[in-house]
Amino acid sequence: MEITALKGFKDILPGEVETWQWLERTARDIFHRFGFAEIKVPIVEKTELFARSIGEATDIVEKEMYSFTDRNGESITLRPEGTAPVLRAFIENGLQVRQPVQRLYTIGPMFRHERPQKGRLRQFHQMSVEVLGSDSPWLDAELMAMAWLLLSEFGLAVRLQINSLGCPACRPSYKEALVAFLTQRQEQICEDCRRRSSTNPLRVLDCKSEHCQAQYTEAPSILAHLCPGCEEHFAATRKGLSLLGTPYEVNSFMVRGLDYYTRTTFELVTDALGAQSAVGAGGRYDGLVEQLGGPKNMPGIGFAMGMERLVLLLAQQNREVPGEAADLFVAALGEAATEKGFLLSHLLRRKGYRVAMDYEGRGLKSQMKKADRAGARFTLIFGDEELAKGEGLLRNMSSKEQEAISLAGDVDSWCGILADKIIQR
Ligand code: HAM
Repeated sequence: MEITALKGFKDILPGEVETWQWLERTARDIFHRFGFAEIKVPIVEKTELFARSIGEATDIVEKEMYSFTDRNGESITLRPEGTAPVLRAFIENGLQVRQPVQRLYTIGPMFRHERPQKGRLRQFHQMSVEVLGSDSPWLDAELMAMAWLLLSEFGLAVRLQINSLGCPACRPSYKEALVAFLTQRQEQICEDCRRRSSTNPLRVLDCKSEHCQAQYTEAPSILAHLCPGCEEHFAATRKGLSLLGTPYEVNSFMVRGLDYYTRTTFELVTDALGAQSAVGAGGRYDGLVEQLGGPKNMPGIGFAMGMERLVLLLAQQNREVPGEAADLFVAALGEAATEKGFLLSHLLRRKGYRVAMDYEGRGLKSQMKKADRAGARFTLIFGDEELAKGEGLLRNMSSKEQEAISLAGDVDSWCGILADKIIQR
């Protein structure tokens, strides 16, 4: 019987993969413009890393992690997100001594056992950035403007929603007000929310039930409870966004699904993906490095973009993504021609050209179809007869113009002539 992939796990096939590569190329280019360096971290970590950072009473840790006991009896987890592993690596490798402010990015798969649906998978991919060592609100604005820039390079229009979740000094007073509100609504909210009213009240605002969400529109706003320091930080962040011309909306009910956030949080949302509205999200996590056993006073902020959702949005807009098409297709007809074409292809590839050729001995029509499918810019056509005369045809596949081209002398000299013709990409 055929073995299929796991539910929520997807192959990314040739033809789709070019979009992924383009997303990555564009993101890397922008991240480098903003001074980020890449870090690669393991896909599996100790379970405790995520429990301690994301929070015990979150959906991710309570219900969604792929956790296993390995052969040594240790509990390990496929990473559900990238921030905790990057911070673990930052602390473990003492990266803070290299540079006072570290700008790191990483791209790769994450795993959450959620109910799969459009834009929601069990293995999905994120492109994420983390900045460690600065609590400047300019940085908050810069990162959101960078995310915005990235999305506009992708040609995607989304909305930026921002909020502040305060700090350990001001959050308790908000929690108190929220608990008082929730106590009055116990009958109207779901069981999860009732339980979380006492374990982790802020989490209720993140509940996926529409019924609960309808109740929470009347909940107290965290922005009314910010301490002067957090209020000032939020105002400066908003000023930074305005200076950079990045449009935003304040959404005081946005709490995010992870517990580590302090002060600024944000989401990039769209209405085009149904329930999965966030294409990217992030925020500040000023206490997290210390919470994970790292140095004190090491503030941080970051965000992650969901690549599957970006790909879906691009597909909806029928956006053409620059591909990796062949420069030249070699259509050789006959045995002698195939032998020469075989060598020519290799020599041109050694010079850096993308060359396609097949050895199936098919007729011209079928080879031209192949050339089209390979997206070749040029096709070199020659048979044994042309070879004997020392002349082939070079066809420009977009203009359909054909010109005679000398195939005299050895294959090395054809190479020079062809390279001159196809070099103007
Ligand atoms: P998050 O909001 O959990 O944040 O995920 C960020 C983005 O990943 C989401 O906005 C969404 O686009 C994508 N995503 C999440 N879950 C799925 C899924 N099951 N299928 C497809 N896409 C998904 C974080 O992960 C934080 N680590 C972000 C961050 C970085 N905060 C600070 N630094």
